[in-house]
Amino acid sequence: MPKVKYFKRHRMELELRHTRPPAELPKGFYWLPWSLQLLDLHAQVLCAGFAGETDAEVFPCLSNLQGCRDLMTAIANRPGFCPGATWLVANQHCSVATVQGLLDESGSGGVQNLGVVADFRGAGIGRALLLKALEGFQAVGVKRAFLEVTALNLPAVRIYRKLGFRSHKTIYREVEVKPAVPDHVGVGI
Ligand SMILES: CC(C)(COP(=O)(O)OP(=O)(O)OC[C@H]1O[C@@H](n2cnc3c(N)ncnc32)[C@H](O)[C@@H]1OP(=O)(O)O)[C@@H](O)C(=O)NCCC(=O)NCCS
Repeated sequence: MPKVKYFKRHRMELELRHTRPPAELPKGFYWLPWSLQLLDLHAQVLCAGFAGETDAEVFPCLSNLQGCRDLMTAIANRPGFCPGATWLVANQHCSVATVQGLLDESGSGGVQNLGVVADFRGAGIGRALLLKALEGFQAVGVKRAFLEVTALNLPAVRIYRKLGFRSHKTIYREVEVKPAVPDHVGVGI
């Protein structure tokens, strides 16, 4: 029997009719709107943003580049994909953060995979990116936004709560624990 681990997750929701602060990036950073040519860049930033994080354990596809490419391709091809809520943040050297938007069947806006590369955290980029995604939803008439967050992910929970998201449901996600590869196994022996 494979071993499993359970991760507690909150589904959080926010009414978009309330006023929010504008999405403003720190100096030296700028917005890159969605285009299909940027799909691979989103995947690369996604991979870098979630590397070593709890969510890469919860969603193993986030722990490697091919998994992130497959995920980005799936998101961009979903009927509810919302380009206006899908953004990269870059500076003059590199791209540092990503978020994607997906509408559900009822027309609510799901914030997906908000991720900031570790070296660029704590500067307000995550918060600005979330606000930008919410602006994108509102621009196409979405009334309510939602997201899921792992309860252990306190920096993320804090951002969401501060911007008014509230927990509406608790979900337990079952994750199969892969046995560690013994380090004495060599290649080509
Ligand atoms: C969650 C995440 C997106 C936050 O991005 P960020 O750019 O660091 O966030 P910001 O700089 O905008 O911070 C917003 C607030 O969170 C606080 N914060 C940021 N990182 C924090 C940390 N490690 N510990 C405690 N608080 C933190 C900031 O102080 C700020 O609070 P303030 O408004 O009181 O000043 C980022 O940590 C990340 O990419 N994590 C890995 C991927 C992930 O788990 N994404 C969430 C998926 S649901």
